[in-house]
Amino acid sequence: MMSSDTFAFIIHPIDPKKDVSRKWPLVGKLLTEGQINYLSRFFPPVYISEITGVRSVATGKTVTGWFIACPFTPKTMLRLPVETVYRKIVACGHKAESLGARLLGLGAYTSVVGDGGVTIAERLALPVTNGDAYTIYMAVEAVREAARQMEIPLAGASAAVVGATGTIAGVCAQILAREVPELVLVGRRQDALNEVRERCEGGAARVTASTDIASIYACDLILTVTSSVSSVIEPEHLKPGAVVCDVARPRDVSVRVAQARPDVLVIEGGMVEVPGPVDFGFDFGFPPGKSYACMAETMALALEGRYEDYSVGKHISLQRVNEIGAIAAKHGFRLSGFRSFERAVTAEQIAHVRERAHAAQTRRASSL
Ligand SMILES: NC(=O)c1ccc[n+]([C@@H]2O[C@H](COP(=O)([O-])OP(=O)(O)OC[C@H]3O[C@@H](n4cnc5c(N)ncnc54)[C@H](OP(=O)(O)O)[C@@H]3O)[C@@H](O)[C@H]2O)c1
Repeated sequence: MMSSDTFAFIIHPIDPKKDVSRKWPLVGKLLTEGQINYLSRFFPPVYISEITGVRSVATGKTVTGWFIACPFTPKTMLRLPVETVYRKIVACGHKAESLGARLLGLGAYTSVVGDGGVTIAERLALPVTNGDAYTIYMAVEAVREAARQMEIPLAGASAAVVGATGTIAGVCAQILAREVPELVLVGRRQDALNEVRERCEGGAARVTASTDIASIYACDLILTVTSSVSSVIEPEHLKPGAVVCDVARPRDVSVRVAQARPDVLVIEGGMVEVPGPVDFGFDFGFPPGKSYACMAETMALALEGRYEDYSVGKHISLQRVNEIGAIAAKHGFRLSGFRSFERAVTAEQIAHVRERAHAAQTRRASSL
């Protein structure tokens, strides 16, 4: 029997041929990327699957959900007038309402576009969340865990936040400023960076701001979350032994880093283990039972019965981040393993990165 506690989550293609093939293998094979992008403008929202088996460890309650695809890629969303994109996302919301959803989660770029969900929430009877609060919570959690596994004590580490003027990155910077002694904020606009720096004051860190991506070379830990559609971090930007947590979708770290830098650890924002025998009914690229943090926020709110606009807009408070962290932990969501360039990262691989970093550092020291 379907639960009366329900949610829907909007996903969208990032890599058009690969992602369209997940639903329609033949279409993905036959059409070119340009053709898919062109045709996607005329496509209605696409029903993807039913999500079952999400069950709270605290209350035993289960929730049912649906994936709905907005057919636009990030590039299409940036190219089209924002009003056209809003209309498509609102149509996805109407589809969610017709399925019986009581909360709508905005995935990846649908949460970035325009005002971050405010207009979407105004136009729908259904409450909306963009998932940013739990994305922030889990991104910092992933940095802490990756640092632990790479044997980098936070109390002695230098950290950087790239895209620091952004919604997610700005709050991540505020949290990290309390935990590390050195923090570099990197962005494109110095005046906006200075405002973020002011919000980071009062923590443990000496905080500096830079518009030059090369300034991350000094850092042990880098959290990157820009809305750039092309890569921002290249192999030459990273020192041996650096840890990079890339929360952006599409990713900020160039695929060249995976090939050229076996001495650095690049992880995606952190996979979340979903409580209960969850079946997503669709392969979005994660191992069974794991989700992105923004999906987990939507599920956790449904388990908590919080059917309200939760994370909307471009300002997320620390209090919201801590609250969703506590709600999600209570129901059994937790950080569970890392992925790097769409592959699981094993403990052996992390040990290998540590060895390569140590060797590179020794080579550098002896050449000085
Ligand atoms: N993994 C997950 O679960 C998850 C969940 C939600 C969102 N996301 C991803 O998180 C990313 C950011 O989301 P957001 O809501 O924080 O977006 P946002 O508030 O729009 O902020 C984006 C930031 O990126 C900066 N930026 C854009 N292009 C850049 C470039 N070429 N170089 C340097 N900085 C650049 C912007 O700088 P300006 O201030 O100068 O414009 C802005 O500060 C997106 O990729 C989104 O898909 C991931």
